Amino acid sequence: MKKIVIEGNQLLSGTIKISGAKNSAVALIPAAILSDEITTILNVPNISDKGALVDIIKLLNCTVKESEDTLTIDSRDCKNKCIPSELSSKLRASYYFMGVLLSKFKKVEVYYPGGCNIGARQIDFHLKGFESLGATILMEDDKFTITAEELIGTPIFLDFPSVGATKNLMFAAVKAKGITTINNAAKEPEVVNVATFLNNMGAKIIGAGTNKITIEGVDHLGSAIIEVIPDRIEAATYLTLGALIGDPIKIDNIIPEHLEGLTDKLEEAGVNLVIGKKDITVSKPDYIKAVNVKTLVYPGFVTDMAQPFSVLMTQATGKSFLEETIHQNRMGQCLYLNNMGANIHVDGQIAFIEGPTKLKGQKVVATDLRAGASLIVAGLIAEGTTEITEIDHILRGYENIEQKLINVGAKIRTEDI
Ligand code: EPZ
Repeated sequence: MKKIVIEGNQLLSGTIKISGAKNSAVALIPAAILSDEITTILNVPNISDKGALVDIIKLLNCTVKESEDTLTIDSRDCKNKCIPSELSSKLRASYYFMGVLLSKFKKVEVYYPGGCNIGARQIDFHLKGFESLGATILMEDDKFTITAEELIGTPIFLDFPSVGATKNLMFAAVKAKGITTINNAAKEPEVVNVATFLNNMGAKIIGAGTNKITIEGVDHLGSAIIEVIPDRIEAATYLTLGALIGDPIKIDNIIPEHLEGLTDKLEEAGVNLVIGKKDITVSKPDYIKAVNVKTLVYPGFVTDMAQPFSVLMTQATGKSFLEETIHQNRMGQCLYLNNMGANIHVDGQIAFIEGPTKLKGQKVVATDLRAGASLIVAGLIAEGTTEITEIDHILRGYENIEQKLINVGAKIRTEDI
């Protein structure tokens, strides 16, 4: 077991290079085995979620070559196998093997996926879509067995623009007979990244990035190369840190358009941003204005950016609220921020924050990925020492976070407990 130890309240300056997007990579890796040949994925972040998915595709008899941030996946001898709970429960993205293996073998056996404890995190939209395409679903003791004589293209309507369901149903439809439309589809950039990969293999997908995606089934998917897009959530985390203590910090290797929901809010709060073609430089303003946030699907203010943003609002002058509308519980960090001196009142899905409040270093616990990242941000601005445990949550989604922060002057280290 390890903990992160931070000596806070040091101005930070320098450049942080953003890695490939976790929420793209965790779909691209399963998608690779839809190909009957060899595929290459560039700019893959070295995070624990990547390792968990590579373990699953190796279990399915695919070979994986890793060099630096490139994965070369040979799925020519891919074999269908049941994905056991000890692998599927490590992350939510294991559910992408449902669409992939259903498409490739017309049968998939997989246990319930894992994922951050931020709400019920159902998968009913996925299952309903698979059934629309002609699949039969059996569930016993947390194990799903999904089979189909054949998959027939059909119009699918999502009750909610679910990111996971949109990608998973693209996977299930990509080799189905005929045309499938996914209506009320998620428009996140990661959906476009995945659709591009499939089209590079020979799929026929149009409309990714809009709320209607049309997929014409094909018989064969061949070799392809794809580059993982930059991680807009990682970038948002470091941008928020820069707004608190940047002197300045340059966030490099990003697509600024993917962050507009956040950058607009940061500017409203009085934060200085210099937005370039593929970077943003951010510095701490003399005065941070309290602003209200309501999380929305993309391109609104992104739910995954809200938890780090709550730390910024503890340093803003005045009252603000942060309303979470996507997940049931994204307030895991608030208890610990209050222990550090913040003034946050949580009422259901809304956090009411009053600032500015001086934060003092404390022993805190990462309850989920983005709450853990928020506590790192809080520790970096707090007076004194902060110790964060349960850091495996954080290592799932932030490549080299300790080194990236040391590079800009942070006093942060990992210690065994
Ligand atoms: C993806 O989760 C991301 N995870 C999440 O990021 C992100 O918060 C979320 O999209 C929204 O953008 C990955 O890509 C691995 P959803 P996903 O399906 O696909 C409910 C992070 O911090 N829902 O868009 O699970 C669901 O419970 C993580 O990086 C159903 O009810 O999100 C949630 O309340 C956290 N039934 C809402 O919809 C379903 O079948 C949005 O879920 C599917 C989802």
